[in-house]
Amino acid sequence: MVKKIKITENGPYEVSPDIPLVQSIIVIDEQGTSLSWRTGKKYPEQAKPYHLCRCGRSENKPYCDGSHAKAAGPMAKKFDGTEVAAHDRDELNTRIYEGPELTLIDEENLCASLRFCDRAPRIWNAVQHSDKEGWKQIAIEESCDCASGRLTVIDKEGNAYEPKLDQEIGLVQDTAAECRGPLWVKGGITVEGADGRQYKIRNRMTLCRCGESKNMPFCDASHRVSRNMRGLDE
Ligand code: FES
Repeated sequence: MVKKIKITENGPYEVSPDIPLVQSIIVIDEQGTSLSWRTGKKYPEQAKPYHLCRCGRSENKPYCDGSHAKAAGPMAKKFDGTEVAAHDRDELNTRIYEGPELTLIDEENLCASLRFCDRAPRIWNAVQHSDKEGWKQIAIEESCDCASGRLTVIDKEGNAYEPKLDQEIGLVQDTAAECRGPLWVKGGITVEGADGRQYKIRNRMTLCRCGESKNMPFCDASHRVSRNMRGLDE
């Protein structure tokens, strides 16, 4: 059976039971710079499809507790999870940066602001100087750590450098910002929209779980200012 994440209309993600769920924790230095990933807690295996909160309001995160169907306050509305993102690559928001040994494909609208690309000398700079000793490797590392898949580096033959990722969902723990991040969907899992159409399969992608993205179903870094996402998962 195909491993799949099914987006339900104005409701949670319905996840195939054979997709593992873990915490993906950002390892930082003393300045809070994102350095690498560490796997934390592994959640119990499920016998049936399970439902992960997409609205950010659940009291039982990361799982859905039905709060999406309730108004959150006197003036509040029920969760509106309307999908607006392109199902394939959005060429309008893609920039290409050519360097001597590498090319960077930058799909800015997918950014989840996890900040691995900010590690000096920053990926844009590293690509521009990819013929300098060590800089090519830095550019490759920073793109492979980019959970959202915003950043991809390719060689001059057009081959992408991609990390080997097992198929699983990582609950991103943004340690420097002290908040929960998106769902990191790893290893090319199928994501199906509420209308039954599939999104482009990617090795790395991040799905919104704060309920406030302007690029649903993808993360747009809104979790960093969302009250729903303060603190880390237990
Ligand atoms: S999607 Fe159901 S509680 Fe958030």
